[in-house]
Parts: sequence; structure tokens; C-alpha cells
Amino acid sequence: KKKIIITIDGWSSCGKSTVAKQLARELNYVYIDSGAMYRAITLYFLRNHIDWTNTEEVKGALKNIQLDFRYNEHSQQSEIFLNDENVEYVIRDLVVAEKVSEIAAIREVREFAVKQQQSMGKKKGIVMDGRDIGTVVFPNAELKIFMTADNAVRVERRFKELYEKNPNVTIEEVKNNLEMRDYIDSNREVSPLRQAADALVLDNSKLTMPEQLTIALNWVKERL
Ligand code: C5P
Repeated sequence: KKKIIITIDGWSSCGKSTVAKQLARELNYVYIDSGAMYRAITLYFLRNHIDWTNTEEVKGALKNIQLDFRYNEHSQQSEIFLNDENVEYVIRDLVVAEKVSEIAAIREVREFAVKQQQSMGKKKGIVMDGRDIGTVVFPNAELKIFMTADNAVRVERRFKELYEKNPNVTIEEVKNNLEMRDYIDSNREVSPLRQAADALVLDNSKLTMPEQLTIALNWVKERL
């Protein structure tokens, strides 16, 4: 049976991972959250007080980072491990979100992550979400989706998520963080966030989850 590569890119908190996970489950494909890799690297840099403005220090630190995704039967999803420690939940913290875009803009960091992402796609049958998956990681992917959603919808969505874990978080903080990340992600020199020329746009501001899944599955069927 034919297997394809599906890429999902877009702004922060557009609901990319929700669609990606459901698609992967439906098709029996592997789901990879590329943002989790940049978040885990950021966590490592913060914990180890790495001066990421120093290229040599960044290169040295990357040599000590081992990332892998392992499927968790209990949560029924793949979770990211940083040097054998499950960091799937800590990396969602605002402390990490505040620095991740700065670190994801570093050339050496991107080369490190992209190489691993590309090797995960060798056998196809993969759904990967991020910012540069359709443009840089898998430019030949069979299906590229670019997701968008109204700003207010995105802020509200991310706020709810973070508030459940930390009731001290404010709407303002979340809004500022999303705006800052989108700004850095789309203006950086190395692989900025762009809609690939051959990507299909999925605006989910007014769509329910089943509606989004139906649209995406139809796009998949056209390519099988
Ligand atoms: O997807 P998520 O919001 O968890 O990603 C966190 C950050 O990682 C993004 O704001 C972006 O700076 C960076 N990122 C990236 N390229 C990707 C995925 C994420 O630069 N493919």
C-alpha cells in the first residue's frame, strides 16, 4: 500500500498538532512534533546555562543532546525524550516558549534538528508538523498543509491550555508570546516560516475538529 509524507506548517497555536495527531491515528502513520525538538533543545540550553550567542558553545552542547520519540501506550501518543528523560510535558512551559524561537533561529540548531527529521521520513507514512517542514525538511512531500486561524482564536486556545497547568498565567503574557514567536519565526534568516507554493490552506477558525479531519483526509485520498 502506498504511503506518503504529510507536512503541516503554520503559525503558533493554529491547531496543527491536533490535526496532525488525528490524521496519523486515522492513517496508521507516525506523528512527529518537530517543535518538540526545538523545545527540548531549548530546555537543555536553559538547564545547562549554555550561552547560545556563542557558536562554539552551541556546537559543543548539541553533541551532548540525544533526542528520540517513543510511543506511550498509556497516553497513546509519541513523547519526546531528551537524553533518556521524558520531557514531553516540561517543554510546554512558558519559560521554554519564551526562548524557543530565539534558539530555533540558530543555524547549527536547525541543521541538527532537520537532519534527524529527514531521516525519520525515509520510510514515508509520516505526518510532521512545524514551521519549515513543507519548505525545507520535506520539499517533495506528497501533501503539504498550511494551517491558519484568527489571532483571537489562537490566543484563547493556548491560554486555556496553559491555564490548566498554571492558573497564574495571563492572557496578555500568552498573546505577547505568540506574537513574538510568530515575528521571530517568520523573520529569521534560516528557513523562515513560509507557506510552500504547493501547500493547501486549512483555516480552522470556524471549523470543528471532525470537519478539519474530513477535509484533510480527502486531500490524502486524492494522493493515494
Ligand atoms: O510547534 P511549537 O509551537 O511547539 O514550536 C515551538 C517553536 O519551535 C516555534 O515557535 C518555532 O520557533 C520553533 N520551530 C521551528 N521550526 C519547526 C518547528 C518549531 O522553528 N519546524
